[in-house]
Amino acid sequence: MRHFIIVAVLVAIVTAIVTFGLESAQLLPPVASAEGQQVDRLFGLHIQVIAFLFSLIVVFMVYSIVVFRRKRGDTGDGANIHGNTKLEIAWTVAPLAAVLFFSFLGARQLADITAASPDEMVIEVTAQQFAWRFDYPEYGISSAELNLPQGRQILFKLTATDVIHSFWVPEFRVKQDAVPGKTTTLRVTPTETGQYKIRCAELCGTGHHSMLATVNVMQPADFEAWVAQQTAPQPSATGSELGAQIAQLQGCIGCHSVDGSQRVGPTWLGLYGTQEALEDGSSVLVDEEYLQQSILDPAAQITKGFPNVMPPTYKDSLSQEEVAALVEYIKSLGEE
Ligand code: CUA
Repeated sequence: MRHFIIVAVLVAIVTAIVTFGLESAQLLPPVASAEGQQVDRLFGLHIQVIAFLFSLIVVFMVYSIVVFRRKRGDTGDGANIHGNTKLEIAWTVAPLAAVLFFSFLGARQLADITAASPDEMVIEVTAQQFAWRFDYPEYGISSAELNLPQGRQILFKLTATDVIHSFWVPEFRVKQDAVPGKTTTLRVTPTETGQYKIRCAELCGTGHHSMLATVNVMQPADFEAWVAQQTAPQPSATGSELGAQIAQLQGCIGCHSVDGSQRVGPTWLGLYGTQEALEDGSSVLVDEEYLQQSILDPAAQITKGFPNVMPPTYKDSLSQEEVAALVEYIKSLGEE
């Protein structure tokens, strides 16, 4: 009996220490959504149970090793023990009850954080290799950055044009796959203003690591101002300016930088007018004709040192004028 009391006290102490250690390790960034707060509460409960089970096993094991070790000169056999029915029932029923309890909590919480609120705003998310695009049907806005008003529930409707991606903002905690050919949903209520990163949480190809976008959570008034600015009648862009907008929305800049940095595809900075070395050993002058051909039929000529991964879908998704505007834009980034 004395041993059990000592072990119980030790288990309680070690549980407290391990819980404190895990909680102060800050495994996740600060939470920034209402749904995330619920996720964190459940996660915190899990951590306490994990700490308790860890302590239970390790304290019993270490205590037995130290206290019941073989005495010097003792060469006899240990006691012959044949199981313990009560103990076996206990260690079957207790974990079963714990798992059922957590599945009840989890199911209730899942229903809670996926429930619709009456004033939710729909945002359509389109994922493609290797960029995100956001459409606000309520306002007729398309954007490569995600701007959200603080405190209003957002219903994300996600889809993908090529392979499976996954929409994840660690500060929001919740995550959802974007799957070609179907629409998945995710609800988020941002609670903290600030700037966060959207990550792709599904290995989707060569540029997976760089499939990032910015999310700005704004005061509702700032969000209204942004919407007003986006929906104000603007002189319609032409030429390279239009090309720059298309490059954003179509996700071109997910793979082609405009500042000379290295991504999945060749940078556009200083590209126009150069001689480009190709995989097959030949080289080609980067002129309008070559750029147009590379957008419409990317696999025809592959630049040396780059993978052949550009989607062949732009000949369907871009109009002739849009291709021309893109070429104009790339040309404007060329050598002076
Ligand atoms: Cu998209 Cu990983």
